Amino acid sequence: MPLEIVRNDITKMKVDAVVNAANESLLGGGGVDGAIHRAAGAGLLAECRILGGCKTGKAKITGGYNLPAKYVIHTVGPIYDDGKHGEKALLESCYRESLALAKEHNCETVAFPLISSGVYGYPKDQALKVAIDVISDFLLENEMTVYIVIFDKAAYKISEKLFSDIAEYIDDNYVDEHTDYSRECMRMNAPMAPMAPRRARRKKTEVDLSEMCDCKAMLAEDDLDAKLRQIDESFSQMLLRKIDEKGMTDAECYKKANIDRKLFSKIRSDIHYKPSKPTALAFAISLELSLLETEDMLRKAGFALSHSNKFDIIIEYFISKGNYNIFEINEALFAFDQSLLGA
Ligand code: APR
Repeated sequence: MPLEIVRNDITKMKVDAVVNAANESLLGGGGVDGAIHRAAGAGLLAECRILGGCKTGKAKITGGYNLPAKYVIHTVGPIYDDGKHGEKALLESCYRESLALAKEHNCETVAFPLISSGVYGYPKDQALKVAIDVISDFLLENEMTVYIVIFDKAAYKISEKLFSDIAEYIDDNYVDEHTDYSRECMRMNAPMAPMAPRRARRKKTEVDLSEMCDCKAMLAEDDLDAKLRQIDESFSQMLLRKIDEKGMTDAECYKKANIDRKLFSKIRSDIHYKPSKPTALAFAISLELSLLETEDMLRKAGFALSHSNKFDIIIEYFISKGNYNIFEINEALFAFDQSLLGA
């Protein structure tokens, strides 16, 4: 997956380059800076001494010394004041300059901390958004795997409003018992309509499955032959058909799905290829499919959305809101301790 959010100590990351949240002297400090210098050893400081410092928003590269990483890219984030003193532009520049240096040194994997979100006081959720926006733009044009390393979960949060919205949606829809209504729909061979919130369901003694499965949508389909053909098509065939229908290029589709090129070419070359569920969902998000189309695409890969699975409910939440930003979805999945979308 080209962009991953992981929880780890950045000094442990086995990548080509780790990025250090340094200060302008480049002579070490606390936080990430301190941890990287401690783990790398005295050789790193010796090399930093001859770099002559680094301006805020800029980046310089050294060896990794005792770190698992081959390089350390030192960048200096802005000290956050009130967000009205160019802090965002400087923080964006830190990521852009660091990625450019990594590319120049043929790095295939890079790990970033959340720059400026510690001592320098940049609000965590805004710092994360800047990181995700700049890195995902870079990944649209470049082949690289980038990790955003979150050191402690407490230090990481999506916006309170989004978090409570999703928590409420999960509460409304999470099915404790494992009656999986989408399986019922598949049995009835009809697309699944979003389930009514659980509160509504509680009022009904008998949940009528046919109401939840929108069978009419199937029959109303004016081109029944095309629909029947689509039922027989494989996941891979549906994916390629949808890419054409949406007027996307293959690269636009798999990059927006946060899937690497190698996996996509496997799917493309084998019409019977069976992807993992997160991969199938990542493509549904990339193609901005409706809930019914998503369920159809999942079915072709042998899966179904389930209300006894928080991961599925969070995906359903974003699709129902029309929010197909896979990086925002992954932030939310990460916040709810779920695996992330993509390969
Ligand atoms: N691995 C990954 N992330 C870490 C680690 C670690 N080992 N240690 C801290 N972090 C996280 C913090 O939780 C924070 O979210 O890195 C983020 C950046 O925090 P800081 O290290 O304080 O960096 P920053 O806010 O950019 O301030 C830079 O602090 O350490 C000094 O010399 C440094 O003066 C500079 C200033």
